[in-house]
Amino acid sequence: MANTKPWGGRFQEGMNASVEAYTQSVSWDSTLFEQDISGSCAHASMLAEQGVLTPDEAQQLIAGLEQIRNDIHNGSFQWKSELEDVHMNIESRLTEMVGDVGKKLHTGRSRNDQVALDFRLYVSDRLREWIRLAKKLAAMFVARAEEHRRTVLPGCTHMQPAQPVSLAHHLLAYAWMLTRDMRRFTDAERAARICPLGAAALAGTTYPLNPTSTAKKLGMYGVFANSMDAVSDRDFVLEALFCASTAMMHLSRFCEEIIIWSNPMFGFVKLPDAYATGSSIMPQKKNPDVAELMRGKTGRVYGDLTAMLTLMKGLPMTYNRDLQEDKEPFLDADRTVSASLQIMTGMLKELIFDEQRMHAALSRGFVNATELADYLVGKGIPFREAHRITGNAVAMAEKQHCSLEELSLEQLQALNSSIEQDVYTVLDYETAVARRNISGGTGPDSVEQQIQTLRTLLA
Ligand code: ARG
Repeated sequence: MANTKPWGGRFQEGMNASVEAYTQSVSWDSTLFEQDISGSCAHASMLAEQGVLTPDEAQQLIAGLEQIRNDIHNGSFQWKSELEDVHMNIESRLTEMVGDVGKKLHTGRSRNDQVALDFRLYVSDRLREWIRLAKKLAAMFVARAEEHRRTVLPGCTHMQPAQPVSLAHHLLAYAWMLTRDMRRFTDAERAARICPLGAAALAGTTYPLNPTSTAKKLGMYGVFANSMDAVSDRDFVLEALFCASTAMMHLSRFCEEIIIWSNPMFGFVKLPDAYATGSSIMPQKKNPDVAELMRGKTGRVYGDLTAMLTLMKGLPMTYNRDLQEDKEPFLDADRTVSASLQIMTGMLKELIFDEQRMHAALSRGFVNATELADYLVGKGIPFREAHRITGNAVAMAEKQHCSLEELSLEQLQALNSSIEQDVYTVLDYETAVARRNISGGTGPDSVEQQIQTLRTLLA
């Protein structure tokens, strides 16, 4: 049987069927059809500018490619796995449609620079979408923070009660993380949008191509500097996957808080019904499965990054077919991070924060102990000594099963005679928050400043 592949000229026999199934990529790289067609249109019109094709030839090629774009959109395009990948499927259909001129499209081009271009465009398009989604989520954190400027809860270190903080401040911490994600996505988007067309198979081409013109038509920020690097570089995928991993890590941390806070022993949040599930055996259960899954899916995005790093580490110059394995990890990470950002935005919008439960938790765990120590310092006692006296007060309160502010003035004065009635104002949880107005602190002025800055950043 003759070999009918577009590259089959030097082959006598056809490909083994299981090898064909093993080597094909069209079942997933067809996702890149928009970028493949746009890249080919830009290439054809540059070839005409350079006199490699006539304007009429370029016109026919572009019209055919646009027809194919429509056919793919309306579902009438027939993908064939024997044509391996998105590139050969589109090119061979183009030749069927426009005749021999279709065979001129690939002049001065290789699938090696073509696939690098398509994937760069695809990754950068997705990064733009991630920026949009991260921005919406960050804005949701800000909106929920604005509702809870005055809600106070125990802030933790080591997952132990530490100092009172405002819920707004706690939520804004996540908004800030997301602004860093947006900055990383933006940087990665710029890095991806460099045009490799003209690198051809690996060494460049003898045709008088104009890579700058092609890059400009595609809205790219620059052109390749070294053809060997251009066809084998996948740093842009790695960067996007690292950005995705970091964003998922941020989401996963908030998921962890939702999981803990929704446990009735905490009771800080109630899950909206639309974002929770029940148990088939325990009728009382309302489980935070969405948050758990998002925490779990974070692991698979790390896996995608690891797969890609491992894929690259043994590749000598230049293109190696291993590189075809670059798309699935990215597509998987993209599905996961896009859905997670959207679902978290919806869930956060509807989370019901229980201010009473948060407030009640303040009186368990001595989160105002630092206030007492600072108060004693204000009375002229050295900090280390103040720390020890406060420790004694905590031990006393613990023995009586009460909070520090529930100790009587006599009891406190027994520990240190400089303590006066005004200590109770200092021990007040809201006061403790209000006094931390240092820029970036949990105090209301600082929180207000953060909200204003974030609003401007996200506008
Ligand atoms: N499907 C291939 C990929 O994704 C396209 C490039 C093929 N190039 C080659 N020399 N076989 O990497």
